[in-house]
Amino acid sequence: MLREVPVEEAWRRKYPERTILVVSVNREGRPNIITLGWNMPTSVRPPMVAISIGVSRYSHKLISESGEFVLAFPSEGMENAILFCGTYSGRDVDKFKATGLTPIKAKYVKPPLIGEATVNMECRIASSIRTGDHTIFVGEILTAYVSEDDKPVLFNMGNCVFKGFKCW
Ligand SMILES: Cc1cc2nc3c(=O)[nH]c(=O)nc-3n(C[C@H](O)[C@H](O)[C@H](O)COP(=O)(O)O)c2cc1C
Repeated sequence: MLREVPVEEAWRRKYPERTILVVSVNREGRPNIITLGWNMPTSVRPPMVAISIGVSRYSHKLISESGEFVLAFPSEGMENAILFCGTYSGRDVDKFKATGLTPIKAKYVKPPLIGEATVNMECRIASSIRTGDHTIFVGEILTAYVSEDDKPVLFNMGNCVFKGFKCW
């Protein structure tokens, strides 16, 4: 038997979910980090990825204006940074400073890479689609990096409980 429920109740059964960090910069080059659960690969050639960001987020403004972002897969040990970057706005706080994460200069884009992340990807916006109260930004991946320690990547198991997983 099926039970009809509010949509939110159905979505609670979607986990585990890949959680990513996305870095963007303002006009002065000051970087900001946002935590995102809504993301997916969308093309192999050229490599592309889609991220969905609420229109009210500071990151939405920065990415709309600059057309660039860095996407990072957080590794084990970055749980607090994920929560911090997903709770506070870059309008009010410098998240690199507050989390202690290490910005590393990227090759093709202005936003920095995150030194502690297992994976970093430099992305340039190819298109965007407004979907209700979010915008899907589609980025072409210009280049990608994995960290030398290659730690397990964190997944959100639900209720912001994160667990490392390594499948490679
Ligand atoms: C685990 C987690 C996943 C999140 N996923 C998304 C998401 O996919 N899209 C989004 O717009 N906000 C998402 N958020 C909320 C933003 O990260 C949060 O509003 C953040 O403070 C916005 O930062 P900004 O104003 O500096 O851009 C998520 C938060 C958490 C903790």
